[in-house]
Amino acid sequence: MNEKPFSAACERNQSYILEQLKIILASARNVLEIGTGTGQHAVFFAKALPHIQWQTSDLDFMHQGIKRWLYEANLPNVLSPISLDVNKDTILENYYDGVFTANTFHIMPMASVERCIKQVGHALKEEGVFIIYGPFKFNGKFTSSSNTDFDALLKSQQVHQGIRDFEVIDTIAHSVQLSHIQTIEMPANNFMLIFNKVKTGD
Ligand SMILES: C[S@@+](CC[C@H](N)C(=O)[O-])C[C@H]1O[C@@H](n2cnc3c(N)ncnc32)[C@H](O)[C@@H]1O
Repeated sequence: MNEKPFSAACERNQSYILEQLKIILASARNVLEIGTGTGQHAVFFAKALPHIQWQTSDLDFMHQGIKRWLYEANLPNVLSPISLDVNKDTILENYYDGVFTANTFHIMPMASVERCIKQVGHALKEEGVFIIYGPFKFNGKFTSSSNTDFDALLKSQQVHQGIRDFEVIDTIAHSVQLSHIQTIEMPANNFMLIFNKVKTGD
């Protein structure tokens, strides 16, 4: 079997993210991760959050690497990746207590970001949480010169890539009953954006 894929960024950020997930997902029972990537995050978080059934997902070509991490970790609460391309696949409706995605929104085209948020709006149960980790702009401004440089690099690699505006994400989220409840500043000029699915019928 080939080597497991490895992300140095995951290694650096996972403890800081976990600290927050312990609080935000304290009463969650099932969480969908969109754009799982290597699988490192899934294993690290699921191990530390045994009350949660962690569902991995990504584009099909990423599955082999994720499965390597899952096979080695052999955890009872992390599930094999489902095929989830936010552009075409649909997520089970009204099913998850939480949806987590890290470092995906600056990679996907903006149309995919929009479709992703709208799908999450349907996939979450009432009062479920959507957690988005990564770099963002606020009021049209980058939060650091390193993020300005990162945005230029992303665009030079693929024109559709780029650091997204918090306000745009918030507007889309609002359209599917996702209410912004918190922005957490994270190390290395990253953020966690937390949204809550509005409870209807009150
Ligand atoms: C920069 S990686 C981040 C991976 C991981 N979450 C992390 O923090 O290391 C971006 C991920 O988004 C996934 N991705 C890109 N386009 C996608 C799409 N249309 N639907 C679902 N996932 C997508 C990629 O396959 C990749 O795993």
